[in-house]
Amino acid sequence: MKLTVTLPNHHYDLWIEKGILTKVCDWVKKLWKQQKIAIITDETVDQLYGSKISEKLLCAGFEVSKFVFAAGETSKSLATAQEAYDFLADQGFTRTDGILALGGGVVGDLASFVASTYLRGIHFLQVPTTLLAQVDSSIGGKTAVNTKIAKNIVGTFSQPDGVLIDPKVLNTLEDRQVREGIAEIVKYAAIADISLWKKLNSYKDEFELLENVQEVIYACCEIKRKIVEEDEFDNGKRLILNFGHTIGHAIEAVAGFGVITHGEAVAMGMVQMSKVAEKKGLTKPGTMAALISMLEKFHLPTYFSSEQREDLYQAITHDKKARGEKIKIVLLSDIGKGRIVSVTINTMMDYLTAD
Ligand SMILES: NC(=O)c1ccc[n+]([C@@H]2O[C@H](COP(=O)([O-])OP(=O)(O)OC[C@H]3O[C@@H](n4cnc5c(N)ncnc54)[C@H](O)[C@@H]3O)[C@@H](O)[C@H]2O)c1
Ligand SMILES: [Zn+2]
Repeated sequence: MKLTVTLPNHHYDLWIEKGILTKVCDWVKKLWKQQKIAIITDETVDQLYGSKISEKLLCAGFEVSKFVFAAGETSKSLATAQEAYDFLADQGFTRTDGILALGGGVVGDLASFVASTYLRGIHFLQVPTTLLAQVDSSIGGKTAVNTKIAKNIVGTFSQPDGVLIDPKVLNTLEDRQVREGIAEIVKYAAIADISLWKKLNSYKDEFELLENVQEVIYACCEIKRKIVEEDEFDNGKRLILNFGHTIGHAIEAVAGFGVITHGEAVAMGMVQMSKVAEKKGLTKPGTMAALISMLEKFHLPTYFSSEQREDLYQAITHDKKARGEKIKIVLLSDIGKGRIVSVTINTMMDYLTAD
């Protein structure tokens, strides 16, 4: 299955196919004539897939090297980027060479950030290996690293030359990590695709979803493709992808990053927004119940405790209060129909009410 992302200055294909990783060499050969390729990956993914990929690329006569860093969000830093720059310079990488990002969202964000800044930008490819990366982070060209103060605060917009998605690699993923992706999949269906929603509804559990994951990934990539094409630089419509994320990010931050995963926090955020929006008459009655039963089926949390309401409010509004800004939030008119609404910061307190 192929999808093309078409932007004013660049277009690229996404290939989605079980087992396609065995053809990685043909794929790269069609896209690049580069002499050197640096595979950027983390230790976990390297052990599982690193040497397979590098051996395949060696066969095609590419000069392949590998930059491997410790798995986990804390590696998505300027310090790791610095090490990667030194690595590339040591290996004599020039602008005719390229980077292949092999891994989850952490690898993808870091490797694409490095590619877009080393020598003011060299070519890169994405080979996402988590469900979250396959439906979300590898598409759309947002690159990022974290600083001590905030996540994703440093980054660029830079599109890859291609994305190769092999759902087979999901077999080695931990359950909690699979659910990270499922939360975003439910989000896509909720904001933009009633037929995807119905499909998800028809699966009895995450195992059945995984059996059909190729078509689910395709549907999600198609939604993200459309939104990114309309708003490459995140000036408007792309915000719709933030459904559940305003409260979700706050839940993650207040709990301490890693305690509640991103997907779990987003699941709670989607339910909470819909609960309050329904009470306000802004969302069709029954939407929250539909979200809850969908998320529960996939073992994602839906319960939201109001105990931390004040902390969450602070986390959401702290940088906006002084300027009296409004906040843009995403609500569902109905399942499959998300919309962006601008509210005053005080209104956020309503959206944090649990009962
Ligand atoms: N750029 C974007 O548009 C965008 C969008 C959403 C999220 N993100 C970013 O993505 C990151 C989260 O991504 P993630 O959830 O993929 O995390 P991750 O990259 O840390 O991967 C999670 C864990 O799974 C392991 N792993 C990866 N593939 C595996 C496989 N096939 N089998 C077994 N283990 C495997 C990794 O080593 C890691 O330990 C965050 O930093 C977030 O900010 C970016
Ligand atoms: Zn997310």
